[in-house]
Amino acid sequence: DADGYIFDLDGVLVDTAKYHYLAWKEIAKEFGFELTPEHNEQLKGIGREVSLHKILSWAGKSLSEEIFAQTALRKNESYLQKISYIDHKELLPGVLPLLQQLKSKGKKIALGSASRNARLVLERTGILPYFDAIVDGTMVSKAKPDPEVFLKAAEALHLSADRCCVLEDAPAGIQAAKAAGMTAIGVGSPEILKGADKVISSLANG
Ligand code: G6P
Ligand code: MG
Repeated sequence: DADGYIFDLDGVLVDTAKYHYLAWKEIAKEFGFELTPEHNEQLKGIGREVSLHKILSWAGKSLSEEIFAQTALRKNESYLQKISYIDHKELLPGVLPLLQQLKSKGKKIALGSASRNARLVLERTGILPYFDAIVDGTMVSKAKPDPEVFLKAAEALHLSADRCCVLEDAPAGIQAAKAAGMTAIGVGSPEILKGADKVISSLANG
């Protein structure tokens, strides 16, 4: 049993992955590119700019630095609009009972997300008070699969990496957790989350 639990946000705690997907789909369409769920799997867990670079390369397009920045900003505005009314109902099944159970056992809880909107989403869904530490996209320079985000989270919890367990829905996140020397629990389907120490279908089934 680990001492610290580090949660990814989108697709693990909250059902916001679909809003990121819809917002990217709109942007991809502007380049005449149809973003599929398979493409989207590769965008999960990685940062905003890296995501846009990937979409552009799939679409065979390139943008000036200025237009690139504007496009990333527009994606975020669209995402923010889509999450403007979210509340606790956006929490995925099993999240609240698990957070409560971990707290009652005296476990440390951290967030390890690439999103710069992470704190806002935790606030809106009402689970911010459960977190002892938050490491988000405003604090990391290297995107998952780099372990930086999880190593920073462990440091913030004052725990060594081998005492931490990561919960992730993205292949890049599982890779990052293993690279950090942590236990990696995949939340989703085993075919996609290869390399995880264990895969559960949702936090309600773990
Ligand atoms: C997470 C999500 C990605 C998202 C990224 C950046 O990793 O899984 O889909 O693109 O965060 O989020 P942001 O809110 O900063 O654009
Ligand atoms: Mg995720």
